Amino acid sequence: MNTTAILSALAEEQQGLVEQLDNPVHVQRAGRDFWRGDLLGHQVVLGLSKIGKVAAAATATVLIEAFGVNRIVFTGVAGGIGPGVNVGDVVVATDFVQHDMDASPLYPRYEVPLYGRSRFHCDSALSAILLEAARAGVTRARAQIHPNGQDGRLQVHLGLVASGDRFVSSESESRLLLEALQSSGLEPLAVEMEGAAVAQVCFDYGIPFAAMRTISDRADDQAHVDVPRFVTEVASRYAQAIMLALVARLPRN
Ligand code: ADE
Repeated sequence: MNTTAILSALAEEQQGLVEQLDNPVHVQRAGRDFWRGDLLGHQVVLGLSKIGKVAAAATATVLIEAFGVNRIVFTGVAGGIGPGVNVGDVVVATDFVQHDMDASPLYPRYEVPLYGRSRFHCDSALSAILLEAARAGVTRARAQIHPNGQDGRLQVHLGLVASGDRFVSSESESRLLLEALQSSGLEPLAVEMEGAAVAQVCFDYGIPFAAMRTISDRADDQAHVDVPRFVTEVASRYAQAIMLALVARLPRN
């Protein structure tokens, strides 16, 4: 039977899903808390990535090596840096780049040495299911948050996400980062701190990976104010609704 890992960056995003698990078993490994159980009849493991690329890569490796998961889905928040990517939108990743990878002049900027690539792609079949789940889940979560329906237009974007070990918290930093990536032909929609690391680990092991991020801020001077409140009030509900919609759509095996 397939086992799906649902990886969250923050405990608030995981809590609602833990409460929905049938036959939950709590396991500690590498200083991390995992929950194994059944969600809508599918075998799942819930894990917290912790923050930053190294922590996330270690969590992904434990999920694969110790829990034997054969697909990983990641939820979290991100700063919107692409045009029209606004707070409250959702980005489903097509691929990831590490915006702080720079081994130039030995390798082209952003290329991960010895991989011959700067982009790590998500699995297209799993991402298609996630995209459908994101649309359905956000619609449901928004109806709960705004019962009177005064919540504007829902935007679910599909595209490149940039990861790096830096919380991007000024407009100038965000602009420089975007311009530098664009000059290498990379057009990211959002910036966060873990996804590219998990994508690379999944590439190494040859297992499908998909990821979604709720936009919590615009990676500008307001970012540090926006994120904590947004995670509790909005992103955790989105993550829960989208993951339930995703699991309901996974093929039975
Ligand atoms: N996650 C959420 N917002 C972010 C930002 N502005 N920079 C990096 N990671 C983030």
